[in-house]
Amino acid sequence: MKINVKNNVWWVGKTDWELRKFHGDELSTHHGTTYNSYLLLEEKKVLIDTVWSKYSAEFISNLEKEIDLKKIDYIISCHAENDHSGAMPALMEIIPDKPVYCTENGIKSLKGHYHKDWNFVPVKTGDKLNIGSKELIFIQAPMLHWPDTMFCYLTGDNILFSNDAFGQHYCSENLFNDLVDHEELFNEAIKYFANILTPFSPLVLKKIEEFVSLNLPLDIICTSHGVIWRDNPMQIIQKYIEWASAYQQNQITIIYDTMWNGTRLIAENIAKGIRLSDENIIVKVFNASNTDKNDLITEIFKSKIVLIGSPTINKGILYSIGGLLEFIKGLNFKNKKAFAFGCYGWHSESVDIINASLKASGFDLLSEGIKVNWEPDENTLKQVVETGKKLVTLMQTE
Ligand code: FEO
Repeated sequence: MKINVKNNVWWVGKTDWELRKFHGDELSTHHGTTYNSYLLLEEKKVLIDTVWSKYSAEFISNLEKEIDLKKIDYIISCHAENDHSGAMPALMEIIPDKPVYCTENGIKSLKGHYHKDWNFVPVKTGDKLNIGSKELIFIQAPMLHWPDTMFCYLTGDNILFSNDAFGQHYCSENLFNDLVDHEELFNEAIKYFANILTPFSPLVLKKIEEFVSLNLPLDIICTSHGVIWRDNPMQIIQKYIEWASAYQQNQITIIYDTMWNGTRLIAENIAKGIRLSDENIIVKVFNASNTDKNDLITEIFKSKIVLIGSPTINKGILYSIGGLLEFIKGLNFKNKKAFAFGCYGWHSESVDIINASLKASGFDLLSEGIKVNWEPDENTLKQVVETGKKLVTLMQTE
């Protein structure tokens, strides 16, 4: 099936409704995803990216219904991860000599994945490919999100093919941003940014600045996952500028795990204190052991203050909190404050361990945290409520 994007530009990708995990267990995909491949039927015939290898045979079979594969003149590989290049081995079996345009790093990555010496043509920012009355302009975009990534821009139709950037793991047969549920779309877009692009935020801002300075008219952004932004494509660029600029909402997020409810009681009473102090603050409480880790990362991304709690076990912390802290470490969050809490019995290491990890991850610790020996009693919980109130004061005096 092909879907018209504009004039001679066609979507020939794959909708994947069933995907629930991506990159192994790294990323949850509650709404599936799409692998967007594009066929440009200008004087020259161009294929931009393919699909995940799992759908390679289906992709090739569908593509053959749209074009005699031998008539494809150029293949553009914007990014070599398997979800975009997975059908290339099967395609290149049929058209082995056709040129494959990609970055130098793209060549390394494609060779590393498939061990084939295809007819690679390395390109860099500013290089152009004439495809008839229009041109493709290449723009390297390293670390958006891997070193090999590039965008390309189609003159005449004013389309930016942005690969992973501006994408979402969001499956829809409707394919265009004006035809889908906006709340779902932006929830998936911010989750994608928070979990994948946060560490590269400075590069996101730089790349957007560079693209804007080229003064290229922009009608459509064709991503490699999720919807095509044809209605006001600048809206997602504007969102990326906000998200890449140490983004915060008026939110405090409390994440804990608990053995015998003591640490849960602390979490909920801190939340009570926050609510009593200022009902306009969004306060959210999650048990890490039964909440999706990528949803937690998205909530952290939105927060001004993050509270993390675990009881001490075996002189350490509970597994769910340990895993989350490790995930946080790689994301390089900016401008976030943090606070740790937890119960303990015979040893009281958990709060210190959480504090050390959050500090190493660049969070600004608000205090030494709350340690409660055994279960919190009524008096302790009253003090915890007061701590919640104080957190609001600290947040508002910043
Ligand atoms: Fe969608 Fe980096 O792969």
